[in-house]
Amino acid sequence: MDQTLLQLVDVTFSYPGRGRMAPVPALDRLTLSVREREIVGLVGPSGCGKSTALKLVASLAEPTGGAIFVPGSKRSRLGAFTFMPQGDSLLPWRSALDNASLLLEVHGAPRATARRQAREALESVGLGEFAAQLPSELSGGMRRRVALVRSFLPELPVLLDEPFGALDAITRLDIQGWLLRLHERLPRAILLVTHDVDEAVYLADRVYVMSPRPGRVIHEVSIDLGRPRSEDVIGSSEFAAARAALLREIRRGMGREAA
Ligand SMILES: Nc1ncnc2c1ncn2[C@@H]1O[C@H](COP(=O)(O)OP(=O)(O)OP(=O)(O)O)[C@@H](O)[C@H]1O
Ligand SMILES: [Mg+2]
Repeated sequence: MDQTLLQLVDVTFSYPGRGRMAPVPALDRLTLSVREREIVGLVGPSGCGKSTALKLVASLAEPTGGAIFVPGSKRSRLGAFTFMPQGDSLLPWRSALDNASLLLEVHGAPRATARRQAREALESVGLGEFAAQLPSELSGGMRRRVALVRSFLPELPVLLDEPFGALDAITRLDIQGWLLRLHERLPRAILLVTHDVDEAVYLADRVYVMSPRPGRVIHEVSIDLGRPRSEDVIGSSEFAAARAALLREIRRGMGREAA
């Protein structure tokens, strides 16, 4: 049995109200877990608290109630994950290579080692020739690949918040394929926030469905499509069945039956 690397138990969170405004309850007893090597999807309607959940895990805020456990980590929660926030957030003045090596360096790897690993990983996602380019000289899809490499290099679980938003459909599919191959090479545990049902089914081993705000987990769907996975799986009847099951639970959570 693979080890649990992250566990949220009854995590509750409210944003403080500004001035005389009442606090905004964002999460209500959210419970979920992520095991070693697993890709876990977190889906739910806009505003249900998905990004808030990742921010709490990444120590950017503290839960109002409940607890977050990181069983495998010797460190505190801060620094126990790599976090790719919504958008790619590359540093515009650093080359693709220096962006890719950044988190390894932050976690204490010697610069030469970090750069060597980053160069190999960039090559593995087809960006070997672009290592010296600045982010402004790369396409949107290339920038996402650099950001993914940066998140995957440290040996830590990865938090991804809508990593492929604002990409066209074909580029998105390509990058999802790169993520799967990167995950085979560097099998990190991943908590993936998305509101794209197809993306969740294509990438994840399990998917948690959240209710509207204040978000809590209302359902868990296992995606038994096996690995390694390639684009071919998207046309399969198993994919269609998993997609339909997930959509049904999301609709049910929103209080709506199938259209
Ligand atoms: N800084 C903030 N201050 C006050 N309220 C906030 C703040 N950030 C988010 N919220 C509230 O918390 C709720 C959850 O926000 P969050 O960003 O976690 O949602 P989300 O599920 O990630 O949405 P989306 O799918 O649109 O990215 C929102 O409905 C919003 O009203
Ligand atoms: Mg969000």
